[in-house]
Amino acid sequence: MKDSGSIDPRNKLNALSGKEWIRFTKSWFIADGKSSDISREIDLHPASFPPSMIEDFINFFTKPGEKVLDPFLGTGSTLVACENTGRKGVGIELYPKYAKTAKSRTNFPVLEGDLRKLLCTLDINSFSLCITSPPYWRILKKKKDYNQQERLEKGLDLQYGQNPLDLGMIEDKEEFLKELTDTFSKIHALLTEGAHLIVFIQNVRDKGEMIPLAFELPLRLKKWYSFLGERVWLQNQKTLRPYGYPYSFVSNVHHHFALIFKKRSQDLKQK
Ligand SMILES: C[S@@+](CC[C@H](N)C(=O)[O-])C[C@H]1O[C@@H](n2cnc3c(N)ncnc32)[C@H](O)[C@@H]1O
Repeated sequence: MKDSGSIDPRNKLNALSGKEWIRFTKSWFIADGKSSDISREIDLHPASFPPSMIEDFINFFTKPGEKVLDPFLGTGSTLVACENTGRKGVGIELYPKYAKTAKSRTNFPVLEGDLRKLLCTLDINSFSLCITSPPYWRILKKKKDYNQQERLEKGLDLQYGQNPLDLGMIEDKEEFLKELTDTFSKIHALLTEGAHLIVFIQNVRDKGEMIPLAFELPLRLKKWYSFLGERVWLQNQKTLRPYGYPYSFVSNVHHHFALIFKKRSQDLKQK
């Protein structure tokens, strides 16, 4: 997102010129990941995102030197993005194998374990941004599709693991959404005044219907965050599969939602 141009003195949010700012506000973007983003260790993880994509969000929602949190760190892409943009990062990851990969990619702190235990060890009012991608409910546990078959043949992970503390292992949708809501409500205290929370998530298919996780989350987080809208991440290079053909409509879901929230101040929290 490099572009010459001056920074408006009224801009307290980031270090972008007007042109760069406006470019980011388009409600969709295409990101398929750069080859420099990918290695065998990172590919082993079934749902990592490209650091270059996260850099654009970090550049928009923080200034250089500010602190960024990723509580569902995976292989550490967010911390790599922090390094590339001159921000400070902290991450939490449950599985030692992914935490190890994250540590090999960055020098920022990677806390290993259940985020529900570890969030309270972090400083309150210290992060300008939380950007993260939680498990998309139990989608990886259930999925047996063409992509899974390809990963199986390459010896790559199909699920994060079998740890019952993994939010992706929760069977019941209500329980999953409650855990996610609790997590983001705890993160509220760690964020500075007016800081942002970005959650990457997808609507997922279950028993022939779409479960609109991306539409439910803003409603559940209303008490702690105002919902500013979404940026839709389009994956334009994924292979189209003949799901449902020739009987019924089943979409090739080649997009994710980046949901953008802003911390409500303590006294304005919605009841
Ligand atoms: C969608 S992935 C994140 C991938 C990451 N953005 C990357 O680029 O590698 C979600 C991650 O959350 C982790 N996770 C699930 N439950 C957790 C918990 N209770 N505490 C900490 N991490 C957890 C999973 O192990 C998984 O790596």
